Amino acid sequence: MIESIKRLVGTDKSQPRTREELIAKIRQSPLPEHVAIITDGNGRWAKKRGLPRTAGHAQGMKRVREIIRAADELGIKVLTFYSFSTENWKRPKDEVEYLMKLPSEFLKTDLQELIERNVKVQMLGEKSATPSYTQSALMEFEERTKHNTGLILNFAINYGSRDEILRAVRQMIEDVQNGHIDKDRIDEELMSSYLLTRGLPDPDLVIRTSGEIRVSNFLLWQLAYSELLFTDVLWPDFTQEHFFLAVEDYQRRSRRFGAV
Ligand code: FPP
Repeated sequence: MIESIKRLVGTDKSQPRTREELIAKIRQSPLPEHVAIITDGNGRWAKKRGLPRTAGHAQGMKRVREIIRAADELGIKVLTFYSFSTENWKRPKDEVEYLMKLPSEFLKTDLQELIERNVKVQMLGEKSATPSYTQSALMEFEERTKHNTGLILNFAINYGSRDEILRAVRQMIEDVQNGHIDKDRIDEELMSSYLLTRGLPDPDLVIRTSGEIRVSNFLLWQLAYSELLFTDVLWPDFTQEHFFLAVEDYQRRSRRFGAV
């Protein structure tokens, strides 16, 4: 993990490679099917520059766009961004308002490109608690891209993993009580089908930027066997090259899923 952080902050200068060389090398090994990213450090990035926190989010959104392009170029199947947690409502009102407006901004600037790239946009999280302009942007994204068959792009907005698990458990109990499922049939696969990520593979690789080493209520069930990569790079500084290096780091790991 320490090595990964060093490599991603660029202290390992032993192998200078072009972007094309890096991509070509990555394509030779199996890719992670699902990459999930905790995009952290926007506020600190802005503070370091004497800018309002919202400037960090604006730059963060540019990075989101670049990483979508990079993931699509590599041929990754699912990309998930943790964009707004159920805990983020505690932030100052103007910051929450700014973040809630990002989906409609992104819709204006990026919907066309996402359609051209055949990207399918989906949401994880309780949309109904977000302002109406956020909901309509999110719904338009989902509606206009629902038949696309390329990269699945998930935005976790108003998402919290414990809340997701509780809702799944409540629904499962109801389904046992009304006879739709048999209690003895409850296994990992059935549980997964009650979660918001139903139908998607669990994340193979989870990246968290900004030096924080925790998972913060993100996909707790789904990341049981994920490879975790923490980097000191702040999200607004996280480039496509960082992303490619993270994927390359993942490819060097030996995944045993509990076996030897
Ligand atoms: C965490 O940094 C970042 C967020 C809570 C917002 C992330 C949102 C984006 C990157 C844009 C998403 C785009 C769309 C279209 C939904 P922080 O503010 O916690 O940073 P800090 O830890 O340095 O304060």
